[in-house]
Parts: sequence; C-alpha cells; structure tokens
Amino acid sequence: MSAILDIRDLRVTLRRGGHLVRDVSLSVNAGEVHGLVGESGAGKTMIARAVLGILPDAVKVSGGKIGFRGDDLLQLAPKRFRALLGREIALIPQDPLTGLNPARRISAQMTDMLRHHLGQSRQEARANALRLLQEVQIRDAGQVLDRYPHELSGGMRQRVLIAIAFSAEPSLIVADEPTTALDVTVQKQILRLIRQMQERHGTAVLFVTHDLGVVAKVCHQVTVLHTGQVVEQGGIAEIMSTGAAPFTRALMGATPRYDQPADALHPVPAHIHRELLAAARRFDEANP
Ligand SMILES: Nc1ncnc2c1ncn2[C@@H]1O[C@H](COP(=O)(O)OP(=O)(O)OP(=O)(O)O)[C@@H](O)[C@H]1O
Ligand SMILES: [Mg+2]
Repeated sequence: MSAILDIRDLRVTLRRGGHLVRDVSLSVNAGEVHGLVGESGAGKTMIARAVLGILPDAVKVSGGKIGFRGDDLLQLAPKRFRALLGREIALIPQDPLTGLNPARRISAQMTDMLRHHLGQSRQEARANALRLLQEVQIRDAGQVLDRYPHELSGGMRQRVLIAIAFSAEPSLIVADEPTTALDVTVQKQILRLIRQMQERHGTAVLFVTHDLGVVAKVCHQVTVLHTGQVVEQGGIAEIMSTGAAPFTRALMGATPRYDQPADALHPVPAHIHRELLAAARRFDEANP
C-alpha cells in the first residue's frame, strides 16, 4: 500500500536543548486512519504540528524527514509548503471555536477555502458549501451558512470544520484530539462522521488522541507513543490483542471500553489516567 505520509526518524527538540520527540517513524497509507496515541505530554501534538509546519517558537525539528507524496515537507520552499496546506493537507482542530473566526459567517469561512484553493466563483463556492454542510449531516444547511460560529453548538461547529477540512479533497487530514472538547454523545457522532467522510473520500488521516478506545473505533493502524518514543506500532487488531506492550496494556486499562459498542465511548477521568500512567512507568522501569 502506498504511504501518503511517511515520517522517518523524526526528532523534535527544544531550542534551548532537550528532546520532545525521538526518532519517531510512522507512515499513513492512502485511505487509512492512523492513530497516534500516548499519555499527556508524550509528544503527539508536536508530531502533528511538525507535519503542519506550525511548531511553537521554542521548539524545532532537529532530525529526520517528513515525506508527503514523494516530497520531504521539511525541505520544501515555504511558498510550496503554504500551497499544500489546506489544499493537500488539512487540519481538524481540537477546539471548534478556535478553528473558526468568530467575526465571520460560516458561508464566508467555507467559501474562502473553495475560492482560494479551488478557484471557484462566488456562486459555485456557495453551492458547494451548501452541499458540504449537507454531507456532514447538518440540517437546515442553508440557514447555517448565514450564521456566526457562536450561534452553533460545539458539535455543529465541529461538523463545519470537518466540512472545511474535506472541502478541497486533501489527501491527508491531521486531526488532533478532534472530539476531546465535546460531550460524550456528540463525540460518538463526530467520530462516526469522520470515519464516514474519510471512507467516502478515500482520505488518509493522522488521528491524534490519548484514548485507545477512540483508536479502536476509528483507526486502521496505530502508533503508541510514550515519552516521545514509539513503544508499539501496527494494525489495530494486532495491537489490541493480548500481545500488546506493557505500556499499551496500561493505556488499555485506562480505556476498558475499547472492545465494547460505540455507545460506550467515555473519556477517562484525568486522575485515573495519571495513576495508570504512573503504574505503566513503574512497570516499564521494572521490565526494561
Ligand atoms: N509551546 C511549547 N513550548 C515548549 N514546550 C512545549 C510546548 N508545547 C508543548 N511542549 C512540551 O512538549 C512535550 C510534548 O507535548 P505535546 O503537546 O506534544 O504532548 P501531547 O502528547 O500532545 O499531550 P496531550 O495529550 O496533553 O495533548 C511536553 O513535554 C510539553 O511540555
Ligand atoms: Mg496534544
């Protein structure tokens, strides 16, 4: 299978020194959802931001390559890189409010993308925006186009962002905790929607989450990250089986619902998550 995204030996470090991500390799194949999972602070967001070229000022890539359809994104001229973003590589952010401009109507934010990246006329773009909102199952799509982000619920805003992400038919979507900010029931619907859209459009997705239960629901492949390093990698069935590495098992323990129906998706309370991670670390230390 052909890799759309091929990250090799990626190192991300603080400019003042200190590793955040060490020698991480992973590839996302065409049409596949690749889960990137690990504890809080493991480096998941740094990897996602390295792909999107939006690392914080204090942080830099200090090694490796990020292959995207034959190019190394790290070597690409800024102009070419910007042309890829939104068009070929799109983002579904964690917080639907920060992903949208509060001062502009949904129609303007959606048609910008279609006009700018695809050169559509105002009329064409509006018709396509309407079609896209219907595709992400927004009722009264025509009315929603004329609303401002604060007039929509969190779930609706996330649907709009998903519509925008898919609008230019990118080959890769990076989704960083796209459902963490949502209520549990809405979370489930949004996960299903992402998976449906991804299948329909054949898009490769790098899906960042701290929740193995979510990974089990939406991903084909998974990379388990622990303190900036890959602990385990492979097909979802393989990893979820009893052969998993101790750290992965501890993460599974933190999400005991991974093998239950989609209705059972709940975020793990932070204190339990922390306790399990501490247990996993003790286990790792005792079993080097
Ligand atoms: N802006 C920043 N400047 C410097 N260091 C940062 C910055 N943001 C994050 N870090 C550090 O980088 C490391 C990895 O953080 P990252 O945000 O990638 O974790 P994560 O796996 O996404 O965690 P979470 O599940 O909490 O989102 C952490 O040690 C964190 O403290
Ligand atoms: Mg993060």
